[in-house]
Amino acid sequence: VQPLTFRKLADDELRSAGDLFCQTVHSRPPSDEIWAYSRRSYQSDRTFGAFDGDTLVGTTYSWDSALTVPGGRMLPMAAVTRVGVRTDHTRRGALTGLMRRQLASAADADMVFAGLLASEPVIYGRFGFGIATLSSIVRIRRPLARVRPEAATSGVVRLLSVEDALAQLPKAYAAMLPGRPGMIDRSDVYWALGYERRMRGEDFFAAAHYTESGVIDGCVLYDINEPADPLAGATLSVVDFQAANEAATNDLWRFLLGVDLVDEVVVYGRPVDDPIQALLVNGAAARCDVREDALWIRLVDVPAALAARPYDGDPVVIEVRDPLLDTNSGRYRVSPHGTERTEAAAELTMDVDVLAMLYLGAWRATDLVGAGRITAVDPTAAARADRLFAHDRQPWSGTFF
Ligand SMILES: CC(C)(COP(=O)(O)OP(=O)(O)OC[C@H]1O[C@@H](n2cnc3c(N)ncnc32)[C@H](O)[C@@H]1OP(=O)(O)O)[C@@H](O)C(=O)NCCC(=O)NCCS
Repeated sequence: VQPLTFRKLADDELRSAGDLFCQTVHSRPPSDEIWAYSRRSYQSDRTFGAFDGDTLVGTTYSWDSALTVPGGRMLPMAAVTRVGVRTDHTRRGALTGLMRRQLASAADADMVFAGLLASEPVIYGRFGFGIATLSSIVRIRRPLARVRPEAATSGVVRLLSVEDALAQLPKAYAAMLPGRPGMIDRSDVYWALGYERRMRGEDFFAAAHYTESGVIDGCVLYDINEPADPLAGATLSVVDFQAANEAATNDLWRFLLGVDLVDEVVVYGRPVDDPIQALLVNGAAARCDVREDALWIRLVDVPAALAARPYDGDPVVIEVRDPLLDTNSGRYRVSPHGTERTEAAAELTMDVDVLAMLYLGAWRATDLVGAGRITAVDPTAAARADRLFAHDRQPWSGTFF
């Protein structure tokens, strides 16, 4: 067995990388028509390959995005996706070699974070990724559900043509972005596959919420699946639900729950603090399942990430271990007045994937000490870290990539 080799792929190798990825997730390689969309969603110089001799056996890709952090700043993030290793070459270190190169390259490109959605939760912790946002799948039995009349309302919801969706939604989404920690910049990459392909080829509908002055401040993308039983109602599945304020959120729910001949409305990925049960006359019509695996982030540049968000309360000294990007390893004094490297004794020690879990505010240090993920050298430090990293809104990503 010869050792695998690794390198970046050229543009004319992207189709083989795309085909390989599809094979690893057990789906059919894209037709020429679908490849035309996928090709547009590849940025040059961001795909890596693992080779057995001349044969491509593994691949990973990222596009340049940005992550909203607590306090509202957006920092560069490599959005990692299309990760796959050929079935007959797994568990030989292909992914490990690919990830090492991809993360080093992200650091060279001044990315502060890498982010991904994981197919299986066991894969990415070893590369420094931690679960940084949670999300909730909301299922509503539509015939029983009605939005409370007293819930704020404004403007109107209108269906969009694919042309209008592509012309108007990217700008509208960009304006909503600072809304929550965890939201990411979508750039053109997302809209080609996320909206255009689905609306043109897969019977998806987009609708926008317009304010009274005609500005879009919310949108949904959904499809409706007819059941096999002709007497049963259909399921309306929402794959994108964005809203800049409560009135837009409420009106989009009113719209979705008003679609006729639908038994169930399912929204994949609302924030865990979405007050949907309180919003409905019959709150029990909604069921929410928390998914623990929404956006995983990796702090590629720990000092830059720590310095980019605000903190509250009293300082704490954290020791971070990062064997893969070793310049991140060390002790940091985190305080409301800034973050700096320090030689002071560590009060909490953790691996860099656990820092990712704390960073956006999804998890509390106290709970991570309880779970054995953080070692509290000073027993008072976890409560201080709880306050330092807390944020008033639950982080949420809301973009599938
Ligand atoms: C997930 C996948 C990319 C891993 O690739 P790989 O080349 O086998 O990974 P490596 O050989 O570098 O494994 C590194 C380590 O992770 C472990 N690991 C990797 N994938 C794992 C999995 N799915 N389940 C459990 N452990 C896994 C390996 O056992 C190994 O552990 P070790 O260092 O203790 O021996 C590959 O199995 C695959 O393509 N799966 C199907 C597609 C997929 O899920 N893609 C991810 C989309 S987000």
